[in-house]
Amino acid sequence: MGSVIVAKDLVKKFDEFVAVDRIAFAIEEGECFGFLGPNGAGKSTTMKMIHCASPITSGQLSVLGMDVKERPRDIKNLIGVAPQDNNLDPDFTVHKNLTVYARYFNIDAKVAKKRADDLLEFMQLTEKRDVNVENISGGMKRRLIIARALMNEPKVLILDEPTTGLDPQARHLIWERIRELRRKGVTVLLTTHYMDEAEKLCERLVIMDKGKIVIEGRPADLIRDVIGSEVVEMDEPTDEMEAFVRSKGWDHERTIDRLLIYAACCDDIVLIMKERFGLVTTTIRKATLEDVFLKLTGRKLIE
Ligand SMILES: Nc1ncnc2c1ncn2[C@@H]1O[C@H](COP(=O)(O)OP(=O)(O)O)[C@@H](O)[C@H]1O
Ligand SMILES: [Mg+2]
Repeated sequence: MGSVIVAKDLVKKFDEFVAVDRIAFAIEEGECFGFLGPNGAGKSTTMKMIHCASPITSGQLSVLGMDVKERPRDIKNLIGVAPQDNNLDPDFTVHKNLTVYARYFNIDAKVAKKRADDLLEFMQLTEKRDVNVENISGGMKRRLIIARALMNEPKVLILDEPTTGLDPQARHLIWERIRELRRKGVTVLLTTHYMDEAEKLCERLVIMDKGKIVIEGRPADLIRDVIGSEVVEMDEPTDEMEAFVRSKGWDHERTIDRLLIYAACCDDIVLIMKERFGLVTTTIRKATLEDVFLKLTGRKLIE
């Protein structure tokens, strides 16, 4: 096992604007690696540099042992890309979208036809095989884009926001397929602004914000190290409550409508707060990556 994608000091500028700001990461073979962050963090820009759709401004980036500046064609042949934006061909059927795409990779027509059928089966789209893509649902389009990304049997699969805007059922189906691909040994790069998606699917991830990597690690480790295990959420906090929490030395964060207190065991905290402030509405829940992001940046992932 070695690193399949390595970035060092990676920068992308659009004129003077720095969209990706000296980031570094190493993605291991066979893992699902996440890029979690709010809109505009630089996730898609990073993906585009990896699949050689956008040149790097400076730094180093190698994919499957090849430098993106030297061997973009070879890299493109070996990776699969499901871009954030739907770029299916509206004039074609579901099946034809796959076979036409196969031509870019010089895949034999007969092989492509069979592979397209297998992938439609895998993504549960067989019923829609001969339907025009205009007439399938948003969730099906996302699945078709993933099927298309698999046409060249890639070693590395890039999924840029695979479930954004989908309902829970459609998201679960995609999550299940991603896990199946992982079991088959495909290295998966996933971008998302859904912390639950990152937490469920990724072995390791980076949290990005404003072009920078804020932190890197395994989801459970990040939550434990940055937050602890539990969070008390209090509705409609007052300045007095916040001052009290501060005076106790409890780790906390205040958002517009909530006071969050982080601790290993929250029962005692709730008791003390109720004793001091009477009937306050509190909820105890497990800490999440959303808490990690809030703690590190002072903002929410989805505004
Ligand atoms: N082609 C471009 N020209 C100018 N600015 C761009 C371009 N592509 C992306 N950006 C800017 O770079 C930043 C990062 O964008 P992007 O990588 O798409 O973020 P994310 O995928 O995390 O939402 C944003 O501020 C975006 O407006
Ligand atoms: Mg994006």
